[in-house]
Formats: sequence, C-alpha cells, structure tokens
Amino acid sequence: AAGLDKNGRCIDGLGAMGFGFIEVGTVTPKGQPGNPKPRMFRLPAKDALINRLGFNNEGLPAFLANVQRARSFRAAGGILGLNIGKNAATPIEDAASDYLAGLDGVYPHADYVTVNISSPNTKNLRALQSDAALDALLGALQQRRQQLAAQHGRQVPLFVKIAPDLDLPQVGVIAATLRHNGIDGVIATNTTIARDAVAGLPHAEEAGGLSGRPVFDASNRVIAQLRDALGAGYPIIGVGGVLSGRDAQAKIAAGATLVQVYTG
Ligand code: FNR
Repeated sequence: AAGLDKNGRCIDGLGAMGFGFIEVGTVTPKGQPGNPKPRMFRLPAKDALINRLGFNNEGLPAFLANVQRARSFRAAGGILGLNIGKNAATPIEDAASDYLAGLDGVYPHADYVTVNISSPNTKNLRALQSDAALDALLGALQQRRQQLAAQHGRQVPLFVKIAPDLDLPQVGVIAATLRHNGIDGVIATNTTIARDAVAGLPHAEEAGGLSGRPVFDASNRVIAQLRDALGAGYPIIGVGGVLSGRDAQAKIAAGATLVQVYTG
C-alpha cells in the first residue's frame, strides 16, 4: 500500500489487512499545513482523484514517534518504506539539505527509503528529476547513505519516486542516473498533471495531481520504459490506477517487481 497517513498512524491497521509492504509519507523535516482547503476532489465517473494537499504533515519528529509506536508491524516481519520530501519553504537550491535531514531521521526505522521528487504540489519539486539536479541530489544521498550504513551496521535501500509526465529520453536519463549513483530501485509513478483523460468533467481543471484509473496507462508506459532501460532484476515498484487484481497483474506484466495501491 502506498502511504495513507502522512504521520505514520495507520501502519498497524494496514499490516493487519495483509498488505505485503507499506509505505508512509511524504514527511518533511518541519511540520507544515499544506495548501488551503478544498485541496482534494473526487471524479467518480473516472475512478479518479485530484489532490493538491502539498505535504501537509506534522514534521519529522512527530512522524518518527508514530512510526516507533507501530514498531510491532516491523517486528512481526512487515516491510515498511518511509517516504521523504522537502518543505515548501525550503528554496529548491537547498532541497538536498531537507532530503538529507529526512534520510538521517528515517534511516534507523525504515526497510527502504523513498525519495519523492515527483509531487506536483510543491513548487519546482519535479525539476529535481532532471539531469544535473538529479545527479547532484542522488550523489549526496548515496554518500550520506554510506555513512549511515556504517554507523547503523545496516544498508537501507534507497528508492526514487518519479512522475508519469516524462518522455522516453527523460526516463532514459533518469534510469542512467539511478544506476550511476547506486540507487537500489525506482517507484513509478506519482500522480499526473495531464488532464486529457478527465477533460470536461467537474473538477477536471483543479490544480494538483490526478490519480486513479486515468494514470494507469501512463504509469505502465513509464514502468515498461524503465524496465527496458534498467534490464531484468532492477527493482521497480509499480503504482498508478490499480483498482483490481487484474490491474496489479498488468503492472507486473509491464515490468513491475512490486505493486502499490492508493486511490483504488
Ligand atoms: C498521493 N501520492 C503521494 N505520493 C507520495 O510519494 N507522497 C505523498 O505524500 C503522496 N500523497 C498523496 C495524497 C493523495 C490524496 C493521493 C491520491 C496520492 C501519490 C500516490 O502515492 C500514488 O503514487 C499515485 O496516487 C498513483 O497511484 P494511485 O493512487 O492511482 O493508486
């Protein structure tokens, strides 16, 4: 399951439902309110949502306290991913310092860490997916991860979560940059800023990320392109528009190793 409670409160309940793994976040170093309401819209005719929450969350210390309260989930063998991002008020040039603070904080409590650079609801965040910016960010994270691995005696896998709104050359550059920096896996995809699939419907023109059925094909295309570029064996978590078991199978057929569900 993708993250449900940004503050990490639903872990035990989801674990009891039998999910193979759970990811929570995105958490930012400091608490922040997110965007003004309304900020989430249903498009039931298309099994879709548009959200512009903007990483509303209580901040890293509260998040870690909640994750520790749910430690029985991991103790019982549950696999927990913790998803990190940057505060809205942090200038994009300083993004790496927020991600590094997030990595330091979540490292001891995570089975894997997700670096979220694909939310459409934090200004300029998705620019971190491109060439030099991505290489610099992932290089810094990989270096810090090596230090943390030595310190904690445990190497925690790093995953990078990307958008569906990328063309083939962009996916190719991302794949090469993941490899180059020793990143362990990729999560494809986040929500889309495209609106063609919902044009004309109530709320279709709301700003934010569109999720659910309309993102299914775009997400599968990115997964297939990543699989092509990265070869067999590289972990790809597929997410976007899974509403049934058949949809999950299609994600695996497209090249996903694991599947997440959120809107569905
Ligand atoms: C999200 N998603 C998301 N992703 C992320 O990495 N960090 C986040 O904080 C959030 N927050 C969030 C809130 C809401 C209300 C929605 C609907 C989605 C994106 C989510 O994890 C997933 O990548 C996409 O929604 C596509 O999958 P689904 O929802 O179509 O299964």
